[in-house]
Amino acid sequence: MTVQMSIDKQLPSTRTTELDSICLKAEVIPVIAIQRIEDAVPLARALFEGGLSVLEITLRTDCALEAIKRINEALPQASIGVGTVLTPAQYRQAEEVGADFVVTPGTTEALYRYGVTSPLPMLPGVATVSELMTGWQYGYRRFKFFPAEASGGVKALKSFAGPIPEARFCPTGGIGINNAEDYLALNNVMCVGGSWLTPKSLVEAEDWEAIRRLAREVADRFHH
Ligand code: 3PG
Repeated sequence: MTVQMSIDKQLPSTRTTELDSICLKAEVIPVIAIQRIEDAVPLARALFEGGLSVLEITLRTDCALEAIKRINEALPQASIGVGTVLTPAQYRQAEEVGADFVVTPGTTEALYRYGVTSPLPMLPGVATVSELMTGWQYGYRRFKFFPAEASGGVKALKSFAGPIPEARFCPTGGIGINNAEDYLALNNVMCVGGSWLTPKSLVEAEDWEAIRRLAREVADRFHH
């Protein structure tokens, strides 16, 4: 009882309004793993200029933090999420590089607790109703649904809306140009994310113009 009350007092820290304003800017969020630091700014710029202004840079590569710093400096109008955050220590690194929000693939009690105290809002990753209920208890109302396709996709999200209709999601994992629409049509989906905006072959070829065109096509098709 005491624990629950102290958590409830901190509910505003979970920053639902802030997450909503970020997600409203982007029906599609590119999920990016920067392999070569020199790609960071031109790649992010191509996506941004193509019309995708919210970018998730994952901590899956050695140069990720440096990449986020550089992108943040070069594109101050973009909203930068730090993805694949697994621990509170990585969450703190995201605060230090000046990101706008944090995304986690799954959740731990430690992350849920840390997120409530952090100045940076978190989009916690959930795949089940139980994970969602745990996040809900901590005050989280906005979630990443991951891995979306493997965890039941559109049907699972429709089912989540039964017991917890106020929760909103950004599904990622197995989403592409052909099924994004099915997700975006759901009332409890704010936006979708995925790596399909940064095809490996185009990044390796440094074909930023092709990535800009792809981003533009996606932005024109899915944005409000
Ligand atoms: C993520 O972390 O959101 C995923 O790796 C993106 O999944 P995708 O590669 O299937 O788009």
